[in-house]
This record gives sequence, structure tokens and C-alpha cells, in this order.
Amino acid sequence: MQPSNEQDRAKWAAGTAVIDAYIRDGMKLGLGSGTTSHWFVRALGEAVSNGLNVVGVPTSTGTRDLALEVGVPLTTLAEVGRLDLTVDGADEIDPAGHMIKGGGACLLWERIIADTSNKVVCVVDEGKVVDQLGKFPLPIEVVQYEWQATERAISSLLDELGQPGVKLTRREKDGGPLVTDSGNFIVDAHLEAIKDPIALDSQLNWIPGVVENGLFTGIAAEVVIGRADGSHDIRD
Ligand code: 5RP
Repeated sequence: MQPSNEQDRAKWAAGTAVIDAYIRDGMKLGLGSGTTSHWFVRALGEAVSNGLNVVGVPTSTGTRDLALEVGVPLTTLAEVGRLDLTVDGADEIDPAGHMIKGGGACLLWERIIADTSNKVVCVVDEGKVVDQLGKFPLPIEVVQYEWQATERAISSLLDELGQPGVKLTRREKDGGPLVTDSGNFIVDAHLEAIKDPIALDSQLNWIPGVVENGLFTGIAAEVVIGRADGSHDIRD
């Protein structure tokens, strides 16, 4: 499979650069979700077919299916405990390395995998690098039960944090609510600018009914930024 346009080529550049820069024989890997991570998983499959010995834990059913298709051996956290390295994408990343994730609705599994990894490397195309997070709507995973009450509580928290009147929308797919791999809904918060990502990240998950939020603060150790000309930069 080849990249089909400029953004895809930049994603390919980031996803494939990871193999030489970070992947070593014997590693236990977290396999991220989204199109950039999937370029990494495809390149990893090729490296495995050339003799690399690694195992991976996928962050979504989509990534699991792709890993099986390209021949990356899979395992579980139950079997291996911790992971050496996770490679995952982002919807936005700021100069401090704080990210918005969950554009593909996989944030809960992604956070579990990131949390059990010794190191997280973020792979993005250059369009994802921003000065301030928030133009991309912040995904918040909520349980289905009485989800409108959870949505109201999110709204109240945003008021308290000095971001009143933020539009919240339940994510839809194929004419109905999108349901995540864990059976939950996603509420997207259209913040436009997130004043204090660390405060918001830590407080959102205290709301009963919120399972996880897409603000990943202090998680990415290094960032691989791909460009449309096929080159890349690594920033720590
Ligand atoms: C999925 C994610 C993805 O990593 C994020 O949406 C980036 O996706 P892509 O690489 O397709 O732009 O967080 O939940």
C-alpha cells in the first residue's frame, strides 16, 4: 500500500521512520490507532517478515485486525505486564507535548496502553503540530447510561474552569450514535482553545459517567513529525 496524497505521505513518513529510530529486537510494543499509527504497523509487519522479533498490544479492534493481517504477533497486558514502547498518533500536539487524541474514538484503550508503557512516541504529520490545543474538538468517552446528565456535568465543569458556553456534540456515525470498542458514547467538546490542558485533563475524569478524555498531558516523550516530501523530524 502507498500513500495516496500529501497528508498521507507525511503520515507515512512519520509512521515508518519509527522502525529504524526506536524499534529493537525483543521489544514489547503498544500499537496505536489511526492512519499514522497504521503506517507504523504496516512497516512493523514488514520488519517482522524480515526477522524482527517483537510482540504488540493493539489499542483498537481496527489496529488488532491490521496487525493480524500484516503478521505482527499480538499479546495482552495480562501476559506481558508492562510494555517497552508505544507508538501512537494524535489529532493535535502542542510545544509541551500535550496532545488531543480520540479522533478515531480509541482514546480509552490508547490511554490504558500509554499508561503501561515505559515510553510513548507520538507520530504525526506536520499539520497536527499547534501552538495551542483546542481547535480539534476534544473527545470525551462517556457511558451510555444517562449520558445527557454527564454531558451537563461536563458543561458545568467547563464553566467553572472559565470556558463557558462550549458546544458539546455526541458523535454520530451511520445515522446513529458512534459506539466505541468498549460500548460507550463520545461527546466532542468544541473548545476552540484549551487554556489549561493539565487542569482540564485531571478534572474531567472525576465526573461520574466520564470514562476517559482525549487530553493526553505529559505522556508523549518524543514526537516524530512527518512532512509531505517524505522527510521527518524527531523532537523531544
Ligand atoms: C484515535 C487517535 C488517533 O491517533 C488520532 O485520531 C490521529 O489519527 P490519524 O493518524 O488518522 O490522523 O487518537 O483515537
